[in-house]
Amino acid sequence: MHKIKIVQEVNLPNASERLRAIRDAGFNTFLLRTRDVFLDMLTDSGTNAMSDRQQAAMMVADDAYAGSESFYRLEDAVRDVLGFQWVMPVHQGRAAEHLLAEAFVKPGDVVLMNYHFTTSKAHIDLAGGKVLELFGPDALETESSNPFKGNLDLGRLAKAIAEFGPERISYLRMEATTNLIGGQPFSLQNLREVHAVAVQHNIPLVFDGSLISENAYFIQQREPEFAQASIPEIILEMMNYVDIFYMSGRKSAAARGGLIATNNKAHFNRILPWLPVYEGFATYGGMSTKEVEAMAVGLREMTAQSVASSSADFIEYFVNRLVEEGVPVVTPAGGLACHLDARRFLPQVPQAQYPAAALAAAVYLTSGVRGMERGTVSTDRDAQGNDVLADMELVRLALPRRLFTLSHIEYTIDRLKWLFEHRELIGSLRFAEEPPVLRFFFGRLEPIGGWAESLVAAFRADFGNRF
Ligand SMILES: Cc1ncc(COP(=O)(O)O)c(C=O)c1O
Repeated sequence: MHKIKIVQEVNLPNASERLRAIRDAGFNTFLLRTRDVFLDMLTDSGTNAMSDRQQAAMMVADDAYAGSESFYRLEDAVRDVLGFQWVMPVHQGRAAEHLLAEAFVKPGDVVLMNYHFTTSKAHIDLAGGKVLELFGPDALETESSNPFKGNLDLGRLAKAIAEFGPERISYLRMEATTNLIGGQPFSLQNLREVHAVAVQHNIPLVFDGSLISENAYFIQQREPEFAQASIPEIILEMMNYVDIFYMSGRKSAAARGGLIATNNKAHFNRILPWLPVYEGFATYGGMSTKEVEAMAVGLREMTAQSVASSSADFIEYFVNRLVEEGVPVVTPAGGLACHLDARRFLPQVPQAQYPAAALAAAVYLTSGVRGMERGTVSTDRDAQGNDVLADMELVRLALPRRLFTLSHIEYTIDRLKWLFEHRELIGSLRFAEEPPVLRFFFGRLEPIGGWAESLVAAFRADFGNRF
């Protein structure tokens, strides 16, 4: 329910140009320049189309260092949409994770969660803590009909609390649509049950709401108790069970920022002193006041049915069409992206030779579409220097909200179909340069053998030189 008012030109380099570009990028899609990218499905973070109202709000930003009126408009939006009194802006989601780790995680602590996200885990590790993931039995199955693969397993939760004791558990973290395992939501019933256990043991429940509107939409669509509830009602109901909320504002809220919010003044006071140390004063927290304004409007807009469903419905279409074509993807469709299952796509590539990274490079070579590796390359080595094989080998094709049209998706499906038919041409990768932390951002890889050239030659034989 929107129309396009501003457009940005994109370029489709031909296959030979794409081969040069991906070589220059060390076979890492993060290192491509956007002028070499046709459809950018790397991420939905900070890449969503903004609304006219968000743009208009940016024009009335109040650039005060302290006491900015823009902050108070954000605070009002948080109170109305999420029901929290105490709000801190931060420059993006990982800044919130850093502050939470600084304030709550002590060396030797554990943080329990439904599933980790790369930056949430990195900050907990750096603070000397350990992440323990308590997902359910089929969370890691790529082919499934379980509507709530993001649920936290209550049996595993009870065991973990018995093993570590509540005093060693910094907090319990629920990620609303689990990014790394296919954007899978949790149910409201599960959140209620997890909260009841958290209360019983006096463990704070932290909610990562980066994709809160999509998780609320899935609850409405998939959980019978909420079939008649509106998105704002579901969001407020979820927040009843949350001690500390944080989010990357770059996703559901379609702005470039983040925030922490709570109704617990003691928690707020524990985090607040660190805000000016790492981010900025309490009324801008490292964000531009223009983005504070845009986030305030984005928070309200994300509760509209047509906005909460916009990306999720496209993803469902994308996933179902690929299933029809026999291309292996994560099912059921989740939030944020369509995820290709690289293990089923490329059984010939051993996990230690990075099938998801190879597939992400191959997708770019055949389409100019930029996706992101979410597999072993996205997992750092252990203390002994061994690769830690990821639970899943996925290529994420993110659909930023209100950005693409169905014809973009049909184009991508068409190229993926061709690639799947030629999948035996795709080979392995190895690291050429490897950073010690979050290596997927800057690491450079190289193909083992000349498979990239063979793939491009086969593509050109079918499509000619123009594409
Ligand atoms: C679930 C989740 N949490 C936290 C983050 C980190 O947010 P940011 O990229 O704004 O630092 C992300 C980013 O993708 C995310 O998906």
